Amino acid sequence: MMSRLTLWLTLLTYAEIIVVALGSLILHDTRGHSSVNKRASSTVSQPVIWQDLADIEIIRVNDTFYYSASTMAYSPGAPILRSTDLQNWEYIGHSVPSLDFGSSYNMTDGNTAYVKGIWASSLKYRPSNGQWYWIGCIEFANTYVYTASSPTGPWIKHATFEGTCYYDCGLVFDEHDTPQVAYGSTNIQVATLSSDLTSQVSNTVVYTYDKYVEGSRFYYINGYYYILGVAPGAAVEYVIKSSSPTEGYTGGNIVANAPSCPVSNGGAPHQGGIVDDPQGNWYYMAFCDAYPGGRIPVLASITFDDDDFPVLSDVNSWPSTVEVPLDQDVLSSPTGTDKFSGASLGPQWEWNHNPDETAFDVNDGLTLRAATVTDSLYQARNTLTHRILGPVSVATIEIDFSDLQSGDRAGLAMFRDVSGWIGIIKTDKSAQISVWKNITMNSAWTTNSIGALETSKDISETSVFLRASADIRPGGDATAQFSYSTDGSSFTDLGTTFAMNTTWEFFMGYRFGIFNFATESLGGSVNINSFDLALGA
Ligand SMILES: *[C@@H]1O[C@H](CO)[C@@H](O)[C@H](O)[C@H]1NC(C)=O
Ligand SMILES: *[C@@H]1O[C@H](CO)[C@@H](O)[C@H](O)[C@H]1NC(C)=O
Ligand SMILES: *[C@@H]1O[C@H](CO)[C@@H](O)[C@H](O)[C@H]1NC(C)=O
Ligand SMILES: *[C@@H]1O[C@H](CO)[C@@H](O)[C@H](O)[C@H]1NC(C)=O
Repeated sequence: MMSRLTLWLTLLTYAEIIVVALGSLILHDTRGHSSVNKRASSTVSQPVIWQDLADIEIIRVNDTFYYSASTMAYSPGAPILRSTDLQNWEYIGHSVPSLDFGSSYNMTDGNTAYVKGIWASSLKYRPSNGQWYWIGCIEFANTYVYTASSPTGPWIKHATFEGTCYYDCGLVFDEHDTPQVAYGSTNIQVATLSSDLTSQVSNTVVYTYDKYVEGSRFYYINGYYYILGVAPGAAVEYVIKSSSPTEGYTGGNIVANAPSCPVSNGGAPHQGGIVDDPQGNWYYMAFCDAYPGGRIPVLASITFDDDDFPVLSDVNSWPSTVEVPLDQDVLSSPTGTDKFSGASLGPQWEWNHNPDETAFDVNDGLTLRAATVTDSLYQARNTLTHRILGPVSVATIEIDFSDLQSGDRAGLAMFRDVSGWIGIIKTDKSAQISVWKNITMNSAWTTNSIGALETSKDISETSVFLRASADIRPGGDATAQFSYSTDGSSFTDLGTTFAMNTTWEFFMGYRFGIFNFATESLGGSVNINSFDLALGA
């Protein structure tokens, strides 16, 4: 099977994009308390949410929309967000609680799984039994099914299809409630599964494109089966349809012909999903490549043409806003202060790989005990990551480092294949607040360079606020500035700006990462009292 990486290397030629208005995000003052008033209808501005949430599956159950996305090696994987108005989304859980796909996902044998793990996968609700299902292929090898009776979980591994890869799959429950899975590239296949989704009954090639197409999304709408697919380099979205799930597909019609991203300098929206609202209006939500921030969702209205194929009102252009006859609901805000209250992390958090559960506690604050002795941030377990909010956002942690040991390093990173951080370097004699840069991965996504210290200064306090201000606009500066404060209000820049890598090969965008690792021996710990995320200028 052709590797997606190889293909994208040869095909990726995104058109440069002309301007449309930048999306505006709804601002909220305090976490969990929306300042949005209820209205009879609303306008969705672009991007829908400026966060890295690629390989969209969007579904609706009753009045609520649900969104699932790829997370590669981040754990837990496949986040679920919900919305009632298609604009405001909140994280409610993850379909894959732990990446139980081999020891490299635990980093326990020194191996890592960056860029592997959860790629395009599918989330569906089954009305006949009230169960939610997630299905995805890992590393071109095995397919896994997870299930839950509520999208918030608990999710459990339900089945493993050993040696069967439903690459880039979409799940549908057909008119007889039989699970069908569309998957593959160019030769689009449909597998019929047993009713309990534990085995394959049959599979067949249902359509062959004359070009490379992948990213299947599968629907049953008004008596027709629809399979969407994308030519990724060209960013053209195609659709085929049939009255049978397993044969007779025709079409290859164009849903969206590489329209310009409504976010300036973003790549053309592609590889999306379609959904209707309770009033029967249809939408297509796709993502724009927007590095260094990752792949961000945008929304468009669609109609069904005379032959019942879904299509943008103008296949070549994307609207800058979309009117939706939907009430806005009160959802938790992406901005605000997380004090790590309660005993577990909120569903917006994901670790760099499966965490060492014995090395952290959430108890009105987050305690990170060093989990790995290493010189490389990339080999360290238990780096806790948070998506960056575009276009510019500011993350601030309050860190108490009185329990660090000599050799420990803890702080706030700009985390990706080229990383840097602001943090504490502890030695026998002192603690120094430091900026460390040029941490890089090689093409096998393991450590190329552990980087180097740019600057440091002694700090006599045992607690400090660390900040990263990140500008992730595509085509923009792609820089972050690190700073620190001892009082939480007056911040001092440390080091020169950090330059983010804007290439796409790592797929996932930059994240804020909270880390603590040991270079000498385990035993040290830090307390993270808060994480604050604010939109920047
Ligand atoms: C959808 O609404 C129906 C009717 O009110 C209800 O029985 C069902 O539980 C709802 N489904 C979900 C997943 O909320
Ligand atoms: C990974 O760690 C989890 C516990 O965190 C454990 O249940 C699982 O067996 C480990 N997997 C491998 C392959 O070591
Ligand atoms: C990082 O790499 C750049 C380019 O090679 C170099 O100019 C800079 O000095 C390096 N920074 C550190 C802290 O080593
Ligand atoms: C940015 O990433 C690309 C692709 O992984 C890599 O080839 C390039 O060397 C990186 N740039 C830097 C400055 O490391």
